[in-house]
Amino acid sequence: MKRIAVLTGGGDAPGLNAVIRAVTKTAINVYGCDVLGIIDGYDGFIAPGGVIPLNLASVRGILPRGGTILGTANRGNPFARKIIRDGKELVIDVSDEVVRSIQELHLDALIVIGGDGTLHVGTELYDKGVPVIGVPKTIDNDVGGTEVTFGFDTALMIATEALDRLHTTAEAHHRVMVLELMGREAGFIALHAGISGGADVILIPEIPFNYDSIIRKVRERAEGGSKFSLLAVSEGAKPLGGQEVYARSGDAVYVPRLGGIGQVVSEYIQKQGFEARVTVLGHLQRGGSPTAFDRWLATRYGAAAVRTAARGDFGRMVALRDAKVIDVPLSEALAVPKRVNLNGDAITTARGIGISFGDE
Ligand code: F6P
Repeated sequence: MKRIAVLTGGGDAPGLNAVIRAVTKTAINVYGCDVLGIIDGYDGFIAPGGVIPLNLASVRGILPRGGTILGTANRGNPFARKIIRDGKELVIDVSDEVVRSIQELHLDALIVIGGDGTLHVGTELYDKGVPVIGVPKTIDNDVGGTEVTFGFDTALMIATEALDRLHTTAEAHHRVMVLELMGREAGFIALHAGISGGADVILIPEIPFNYDSIIRKVRERAEGGSKFSLLAVSEGAKPLGGQEVYARSGDAVYVPRLGGIGQVVSEYIQKQGFEARVTVLGHLQRGGSPTAFDRWLATRYGAAAVRTAARGDFGRMVALRDAKVIDVPLSEALAVPKRVNLNGDAITTARGIGISFGDE
């Protein structure tokens, strides 16, 4: 293995820089190979100045830093790239150009750090002969094949702290405080933060809710002497028989952006005679310094990705199972997106301690 490259794609997540650092250090220290950084995801392969050398100096001091020193792109799918030609918007496939650029760089491995979208592109490039290794990243924790993605723990910490802070105002003002959390179609952030932050109601995409059930819980608490309630609501939560709420619709390149369900739920509660307020935590969940766990996981993932590349095991993704870092086929990891297990102990625990999912 003489030369490898690393890129980060999709939304940023705390721990990206820790992976880049571990990849670079392991590749140089253990394998004595050159490392290239690709700027702004796959776009870097076809943009001027999109490939830079990485060495020990370039990754010094980045372990605790949020974001990514390589930049990232949400629309960086080379198989569906939006361009303007003759004043018209077109979606074109530039994947052959990307593959050519990779061949010209004589890469022995390409390590792609990303969520579902970036890893899918990685799989398609692998099918075209690119020696790809995936590293699962996302605050949503919705990538299959692994128990945890890095970035999730940090998002959880921020979301839990937000619930703690809303709790004191809820109690002081006898209010219902609603916190809308990220996660797309997976409810992990709201579920875990809701349990950790003492939410009374948790709404997640995997369990469609009904409004009467939420009101019953809020009323029961008020009548029982707790004149406030705390709700952790996933952005992808939806009422039984109803639809998700979107802040923006999607197109051939952009996925639709969820957002607004917290406001809808809060308004409903307000109409039932309870004073309610909503907070949308948004990108605060993605920014800033990673937790110790995310640094630890990201570093192990980065080092394991290089070892997997050195063995020549391409088309695979590093993953955490039973506290061990292993690697699994990318196709297996991406076959089914991970969702909250409705029969798992987290849901049972939550119900047992009196948390409502709005479905009772
Ligand atoms: O996938 C990570 C995530 O933060 C989701 O939880 C959220 O729905 C989405 O990205 C937001 O995307 P953007 O940063 O493009 O608004």
